[in-house]
Amino acid sequence: MLRLAVAIVSILAVESSTVNDAFNWHEVVPDVIPGPPPELLKVSYDNRLSVKDGDIVTPTQVMHKPVVEWMAEPDTYYTLMMVDPDAPSRSEPRLREFKHWLVINIPGNDVARGDALADYVGSGPPKDTGLHRYVFLVFKQPKKLQISGARVSNKSRRGRTKFHAYKFAEHHHLGDPVAGTFYQAEYDDYVPILHSQLKN
Ligand SMILES: *[C@@H]1O[C@H](CO)[C@@H](O)[C@H](O)[C@H]1NC(C)=O
Repeated sequence: MLRLAVAIVSILAVESSTVNDAFNWHEVVPDVIPGPPPELLKVSYDNRLSVKDGDIVTPTQVMHKPVVEWMAEPDTYYTLMMVDPDAPSRSEPRLREFKHWLVINIPGNDVARGDALADYVGSGPPKDTGLHRYVFLVFKQPKKLQISGARVSNKSRRGRTKFHAYKFAEHHHLGDPVAGTFYQAEYDDYVPILHSQLKN
């Protein structure tokens, strides 16, 4: 029994230390958040591509809204954010961060039942700007949030640039993220399609 407990504790320790390593190594800490999240967020595209630890993927592979899972407590609301701190490039991030997805008031981890303030848009790193980091963070809400104003569809870039995930969390008293992960991507043929979709 003790041996089993020790084994479980060390598995958890290994998992969380890789989350730490990846967030630190790729400087998501401190560029986006001051410390790494304790839990690895599960993000999976089209039921087959799981992304984590700064994996390199193509914009084509991540064009559809992914399934995101975390260990949710009962009777608790969560906020999910996805941001690109490398807009328009990691070396000159003057539009940092680009808001790719923002859903508040998610009951448990049922993202579809949350309130999408900004609908999911995939990765659109401009040509010749190298790899961008795409960071997913989940925050536990102390209570249901009341945020008025229009919702941003997946056809619009309104209000998406110069967003700050961590400031948003501070403003709404969400504390530090409870889970997170990220991938990296650079330009491919899907990017011009996405950019024309975002013209509205
Ligand atoms: C945009 O959102 C609509 C409505 O939610 C959805 O049907 C459509 O598939 C989305 N388009 C893309 C490219 O994600």
